Amino acid sequence: MMEIRVGILGLGTVGLGVARMLIEQQSLMAKRLGKKLVLVAAADRNLERDFGLDLSGVRLTDDAHDVVTADDVDLVVELIGGYEPARSLVTTAMQHGKHVVTANKALIAKHGEELLPLAAANHVALAFEAAVAGGIPCLKSLREGVAANNIESIYGILNGTCNFILSKMEDEGADYADVLKEAQALGYAEADPTFDVEGIDTAHKLSILASMAYGSHIKFDEVFTEGISKISAADIEAVAELGYRIKLLGIAKPHRGKDGDKVEMRVHPTLVPLSSQIAQVADSYNAVMISGDFVEHTVSIGRGAGERPTASAVMADIMDIARVTPGGLQFMAPAMGYMPDERQDLATLDMSDVQSEYYLRLQVQDESGVIAAVTSILADHRISLEAMQQKERNTEQTVPVIMLTYRTTEGNLQAAISRIVALSAVEDDVLILRKESFAT
Ligand code: HSE
Repeated sequence: MMEIRVGILGLGTVGLGVARMLIEQQSLMAKRLGKKLVLVAAADRNLERDFGLDLSGVRLTDDAHDVVTADDVDLVVELIGGYEPARSLVTTAMQHGKHVVTANKALIAKHGEELLPLAAANHVALAFEAAVAGGIPCLKSLREGVAANNIESIYGILNGTCNFILSKMEDEGADYADVLKEAQALGYAEADPTFDVEGIDTAHKLSILASMAYGSHIKFDEVFTEGISKISAADIEAVAELGYRIKLLGIAKPHRGKDGDKVEMRVHPTLVPLSSQIAQVADSYNAVMISGDFVEHTVSIGRGAGERPTASAVMADIMDIARVTPGGLQFMAPAMGYMPDERQDLATLDMSDVQSEYYLRLQVQDESGVIAAVTSILADHRISLEAMQQKERNTEQTVPVIMLTYRTTEGNLQAAISRIVALSAVEDDVLILRKESFAT
């Protein structure tokens, strides 16, 4: 049976999962593939530890360069993460004629536009299913399953750490910092967890999904990004009373305007109706909702992080490449879902033009006329209120006031808020959350 020889860079959580699958699932995969996948080499900075896995037949090295240049490696799996040295190692591997599979969303989001042509020039595959939503085969769905549709929207819970934190804060009234530590211990969080909680990891993933959906270049730097670190237990409770739950969502939509086609891309904590499917996705689970003009709504739910689910997605890419190796790369769907020459430089919709409904939390002096002054400014901006609640005093003189607005543009809302915080009776730390409705 033909063998495809695999080398792994990084024996961390996911790297060990991939090694385990290559060893333990070898015969199952061979039956499905007609080829044998063999782990021949692995690189890690720290080889003096118990891997909890028999790697006796595998050449172990602390120099990743040995793996990316080795004559006996056909396919390199990059699981180091981050921008460098991952970028240099992937580049060298492809220049040495090796296919590359990576789970590194930061790498693809930031350097994909440089690495994809390099893969083509070197006649190798670059695959990254595990980079987005861990174990959910969402890139394959988008690239192949709904390939004949115009994509109307993508909504994703794309960060397991944030979903885990928000779920636990709601269910157990747990403290944000404690839950973050638990997510780190479970291997969900990034090396720098600010990437998780500040929405950067979700923005990496969303930029890849949006690019694949709309045939545009990957524009991670243009994704509007807000994280969950300013969400308090009081907000979680207040939105529940109103019939909502807070989820960190990545949202992508196409826009046709007088000044050409644009792509809307935003990441922020979002109020979702308690009755919606996406509100039920808890713990470290991710969800990707893709809506197309013919397929209507599809929702995929699965583990978005952790050793085994992420390894599962890495292995699916390895099997796809192995199936067409050698010499059949042209039979794979294009890596970004569009033929390379058809990909365009679409503009990103300015956040001020994005339309949404809003949740506002204001802290105001508990005195007459304050609410009238606030609502009069909202009326000036033609912002209509769906609901309003004044809570009990939580300081000597001030009270929290919560408002839900109907749809308006972000630019209009921000203009109204800057006038509202200029009122002497309103403190300047207004919390603005966006709200979405769902068909399912
Ligand atoms: N830190 C990421 C998460 C890991 O929490 O979802 C998977 O990309």
